[in-house]
Amino acid sequence: MIVQYANFISSHTNISQCPPATKPEYAFIGRSNVGKSSLLNMLTGRNKLAKVSQTPGKTQLINYFLINEEWYLVDLPGYGYAKVSKTSRAKWQKMIRDYLAKRLNLQCTFVLIDSRVPPQKIDIEFINWLGEMFIPYVIVYTKTDKLKPPELSQNVENFQTALLEHWEVLPQQFYSSATKKTGKEDILDFIDETNKNFDIADLEDIGAA
Ligand code: GTP
Ligand code: MG
Repeated sequence: MIVQYANFISSHTNISQCPPATKPEYAFIGRSNVGKSSLLNMLTGRNKLAKVSQTPGKTQLINYFLINEEWYLVDLPGYGYAKVSKTSRAKWQKMIRDYLAKRLNLQCTFVLIDSRVPPQKIDIEFINWLGEMFIPYVIVYTKTDKLKPPELSQNVENFQTALLEHWEVLPQQFYSSATKKTGKEDILDFIDETNKNFDIADLEDIGAA
């Protein structure tokens, strides 16, 4: 797929304000600073579309981007930022979990995992929650440019082992580097294929659109 148009649409704190659920939608989620906004920019080929920062906690809202007038990419605030107060964390949890559980046109959630670090409890717990809620997701290992191939394989294997302690089947997995543009084609092809299965009539039947 070629991204011809990519436009920022709107930002929200509540699912009730989000655009009508009439187009297929894909969300990026993961720990603060894992590279969600950078991946969105890399996929769309627009460097400044989503705000990127070295300071964790940059993205605070549910941000909508319309791609090729056909589907939405949604950039979400990250989890696991240590400096966040308990109240803000609880607010984040409610906002994001509400969004992920109730947004019926959400075709797939991309869970971004930092390829440089050992399996993090917070990531595993979050994935377990997605699985328990039957929310479709895939994994993207980010910042792969920072590692040598053997280190990357080892870290991915460790993460898979951690997942297999809870689940029998592994989800689909992608590798990305925003700096080297790795993973762009694979991820866009996956979205293209998934878009083909989107039928608005399915949502209308259940009164969602
Ligand atoms: P929050 O919005 O704070 O949750 O962060 P985020 O997940 O959106 O991360 P963001 O895209 O803002 O990137 C965080 C930092 O990581 C920035 O300094 C990016 O330049 C850097 N970064 C992101 N992706 C990559 C990558 O693939 N390779 C390298 N080397 N750096 C990356
Ligand atoms: Mg961000």
